[in-house]
Amino acid sequence: MRRIGFGLLMSILIAGTLFAGESFITDDEYAKMLYKNPRGISCAKCHGEKGEGKVLCTYVDHGKKYSITAPPIYNLSMARFKKALSRKGRLMPQYFLTEWEMAHLYYYLLTQNPDYDKNKNKHKGKKNDS
Ligand code: HEC
Repeated sequence: MRRIGFGLLMSILIAGTLFAGESFITDDEYAKMLYKNPRGISCAKCHGEKGEGKVLCTYVDHGKKYSITAPPIYNLSMARFKKALSRKGRLMPQYFLTEWEMAHLYYYLLTQNPDYDKNKNKHKGKKNDS
């Protein structure tokens, strides 16, 4: 009997830890994690640490220099962002992210934009008081 009681107690403790687990990280931390490890290749590998965009490679063809770049993605409309994530790009792989995941990524990237504070103040109609 004692054993069953102990087992039950452990199950409750473990379940509690699992469910509570969600609140161990903040939404911002979660979004940052998702950006670096989105169930597939990291967005940062192509779009840069902050989503600022990156030159992926350069090559020369018939004496002309070309480059392949991943565009900046911290300054897009939500609609454009989601659209790009819902299909396969020419180069970008297709991800199968939920609405929730896309929204978190979107807001995380906005905060990475160097103009974030400026835009935020503009948005609120306040002057930048720094
Ligand atoms: C293998 C490199 C690569 C990876 C990884 C990648 N992208 Fe892209 N992404 C691109 C390229 C290149 C484009 C330009 C369109 C194309 O060629 O597919 C693009 C386009 C986009 C666009 C559209 C930009 C615009 O101006 O409309 C968004 C949004 C975007 N990526 C977000 C992401 C997010 C978020 C992730 C991670 C979940 C990610 N990408 C992972 C290479 C990548």
